[in-house]
Amino acid sequence: TIIPVIMAGGSGTRLWPLSRKARPKQFQPLISERTMLDETLARVTGPAFGPAAVIGSAPHAEMIAESLGEGGRIVLEPFGRNTAPAAIVAALLARETDPDSLVLLLPADHHIADVPAFQEAVARGVAAAEKGYLVTLGITPEGPETGYGYIKRGEPLTEGTFTVAQFVEKPDRPTAERYIAEGDYAWNAGIFLYRAGDLLAEAEAHAGEMLTATKAAYDAAERSGSQIALTPEAFDPVPSDSVDYAIMEKTAKAAVVSPVTIGWNDIGSWAAVKDFATGEIAEGNIAIDCTDTLIKTSEGAPMIAAVGLEGMVVVATADAVLILPAERSQDVKKIVEELKEKG
Ligand code: GDD
Ligand code: MG
Repeated sequence: TIIPVIMAGGSGTRLWPLSRKARPKQFQPLISERTMLDETLARVTGPAFGPAAVIGSAPHAEMIAESLGEGGRIVLEPFGRNTAPAAIVAALLARETDPDSLVLLLPADHHIADVPAFQEAVARGVAAAEKGYLVTLGITPEGPETGYGYIKRGEPLTEGTFTVAQFVEKPDRPTAERYIAEGDYAWNAGIFLYRAGDLLAEAEAHAGEMLTATKAAYDAAERSGSQIALTPEAFDPVPSDSVDYAIMEKTAKAAVVSPVTIGWNDIGSWAAVKDFATGEIAEGNIAIDCTDTLIKTSEGAPMIAAVGLEGMVVVATADAVLILPAERSQDVKKIVEELKEKG
């Protein structure tokens, strides 16, 4: 079986004012009426999958438990150490259930429009993972985005998968432009399939210190029921790094499922929410002659009434209203920075 392990520890600041520390984007209904975490969980159910686990942040324990329901396990981190320790913890967790099981490590905040195609892509990765590879999903790139990992396809490995000739996490702009021009690179979807033992072996080879510290923290964790709480004392010495830099760039055992066409989007900005949301104008608001516009309100927000907007984003919560042209969505981080300075 495949054990889905969902990483839900991110803070999602680019989706302010809806995404906040207390309830970041993975716990918000952004695209449908279900939260991103609920959508993610729904995507990994079916005969191929065992009960899911979630690795998240301790203050979010209740929201995670509510989404996960009975039968799922929760690992709580006292603070973030990025995704490499999470990938290791996922392996340690899966190994407890069944040493031969596969881990499907996935982010809690992505949108995938074609779920059957996604499950087919995962199924295609199984043979490569069973050969001992750390398997990625390679998305056909749409442009020289610098926020993604880039994967260059190597030799055919199993049906529909290839070895990875090169994995480059977040290249700079000129490099990303070169990769796009060369044409044989895919974006890393940030979804990984591996056998627990293989990930641990690669972590030992390329991130030994992190592996040792993470194992120690996992062994020292406080367990109650289905919850495993990593303690601040034991988790503090764990170095912070992403699985992409710490392991995927370095390992010789990477494979990629390619091509993968699943309607994937990492919903990194309000522009993406506008493009993928099923209800662009939230119920209860009034929009007259508005085109290509997102009007989103959360509980406690005032009603929004708008006329003649084009390509705009309006997001209101009980205490803040954001208004910007969708094409300036990346600049939300400037607002968040200014808010931080003001305290
Ligand atoms: N539990 C836990 N702890 N989860 C975390 C932590 C942490 O410390 N940090 C991040 N996460 C979760 C986030 O919530 C998100 O769901 C996922 O891990 C990925 O982290 P991001 O911080 O969003 O990574 P990224 O977007 O910069 O890059 C990754 O995803 C891209 C695709 O969206 C990489 O894998 C790239 O190579 C990839 O292209
Ligand atoms: Mg991301």
